[in-house]
Amino acid sequence: MEREIRIYPDEVLKKEAFPVDEFNAELRELVDDMFETMYKRKGVGLAANQVGVLKRVFVLDLNAGKEKEGQEKLVFVNPEIIHMEGEVVAEEGCLSLPGLWKKVKRASKVVVKAQDLEGKEFQLQAEGLLARAIQHELDHLNGIVFIERLSPLQRRLALEKYKKLKRNYERKMARR
Ligand code: NI
Repeated sequence: MEREIRIYPDEVLKKEAFPVDEFNAELRELVDDMFETMYKRKGVGLAANQVGVLKRVFVLDLNAGKEKEGQEKLVFVNPEIIHMEGEVVAEEGCLSLPGLWKKVKRASKVVVKAQDLEGKEFQLQAEGLLARAIQHELDHLNGIVFIERLSPLQRRLALEKYKKLKRNYERKMARR
């Protein structure tokens, strides 16, 4: 079932999510709903805060919106970045700040440790877009949205632009 995406500055986006300790049907349903919501909005990643749930879970599919959509669905429960290196600047957007794209500096490589839907621990080494997406989504679980990774000046400009984008988005959503 598609869930409502929370839009910045919704308070739930500023809160730290709680660790998951039950790997049950409710968790599986949340993850299914998150993928459905993410695909509908053509995003490549979504954190539970963004659908109003304060659990440490995010999903990714770098092929979202492409032919291979759904073939490599990644689920991260209780994720932790255990290693990061390098630096790279690239454009980033977020379903909770619709229409806003800004260049953000991130580590170029990360190693993430997480659990899957059964609670089994795994580690993943990532670079490129995957490394960026992991850092972006993990930030959400800590109550951080990507504009907070910008310099104060860039953030101010981004917020000014976002105000207009948000108005357009709200108009569009009202017509849905
Ligand atoms: Ni986001």
